[in-house]
Amino acid sequence: MNILVTGGMGYIGSHTCLALYKAGFTPIIYDNLSNSSIKVLEQLKIIANHTFEFVEGDINDRDKLEATLNDYNIKAVFHFASLKAVGKSTEQPLRYYDNNVSGTVTLLTAMQKSAVKQIIFSSSATVYGDPQYLPIDEKHPITATNPYGWTKVMVEQILNDWCLANEQNLAIALRYFNPAGAHPSGLLGESPTGIPNNLMPYISQTAVGQREFVNIFGNDYDTEDGTGVRDYIHIMDLAEGHVAAFSTHQKDSGSLVYNLGTGKGYTVLEIITAFSSSANVEINYKFAPRRAGDIASNFANASLAQEKLGWKAKLNIKAMTDDTWRWQSKYPNGLED
Ligand code: NAD
Ligand code: UD1
Repeated sequence: MNILVTGGMGYIGSHTCLALYKAGFTPIIYDNLSNSSIKVLEQLKIIANHTFEFVEGDINDRDKLEATLNDYNIKAVFHFASLKAVGKSTEQPLRYYDNNVSGTVTLLTAMQKSAVKQIIFSSSATVYGDPQYLPIDEKHPITATNPYGWTKVMVEQILNDWCLANEQNLAIALRYFNPAGAHPSGLLGESPTGIPNNLMPYISQTAVGQREFVNIFGNDYDTEDGTGVRDYIHIMDLAEGHVAAFSTHQKDSGSLVYNLGTGKGYTVLEIITAFSSSANVEINYKFAPRRAGDIASNFANASLAQEKLGWKAKLNIKAMTDDTWRWQSKYPNGLED
């Protein structure tokens, strides 16, 4: 079965293509390469011993989308394509709404025209805002604190309405907690452009000597050691969660939501310690003021996915830091060099 993977050259999409292929599906990658390298294709080929089909295109290009959906006889869409930098989204809100929200409307319009009725959407735990209780289950109220977050809330609403309008449509929003790690081969991973905003890439660039020290944003939170707590989930587990969601619900319809997390939180200091041990280097850090908009703790109640999808994260923090280190030390500057 052919599945269109928008944003399939990116960090989560590329790993999910591998999981889809392993499960017997045929991913067709659709990406405008705005935040990824064409070299991802070579890495995918080495890992899977398979040449993945790639169409260079934008989700705002309806004609190209329709042609691709028809030419490849696509049955379902895994929709990863989006801009994802929280800070930039506050500076350039219209660009974010255009890419993430209008782009999704264009994609759904093309799907409707081509009678493709199933979509798996990359949402985020950011839709829970400042948690009212922990662990967070799917019934927790949703909101947003920045334009990026609002694009996720808005697209979830659009998917709901799209399913209400046609009882055959299926939309599954997967709310990721904090994706981390890399492919265990070290051939594929996350390579952010510029200074990383997220913790794991910042630590790995520090470990490899590209950054002097990690700024720990806040050590006075109400947590075990005062630093922020997050639910880090290995990219390989996350990728398999997508396949589990689609395989389970392939014959269903309606609008569904699942958390994809491990259910366990780690502090910033715990992550730095784990990374130090994987890389066998000391990682320098300094305590800095809290980052605006940050919350103290965030971790998932992941039981719905386990109950309904039979999926559970298997890999621990050591696997995340070991695999990130393997990737970072093999490709210190990402795939571009
Ligand atoms: P990424 O930037 O590595 O991948 C996104 C891909 O989409 C890139 O290859 C980019 O070139 C492509 N893309 C962007 N806009 C496009 C457009 N208009 N048309 C075609 N392609 C386009 O990001 P990622 O970390 O793999 O994230 C994938 C999805 O998961 C995104 O929707 C993101 O918002 C969501 N998400 C990510 C995280 C995270 O921490 N990485 C957490 C929660 C949710
Ligand atoms: C961030 C985004 C969130 C997005 C998620 C995707 C913000 C405010 N939130 O979440 O919307 O869905 O990424 O992965 O940007 N930290 C440091 N030093 C650093 C970087 C981070 O101490 O250099 C701390 C943070 O304060 C936090 C933890 O590390 O406690 C994780 O941070 P990060 O990786 O940025 O993820 P989130 O803040 O959870």
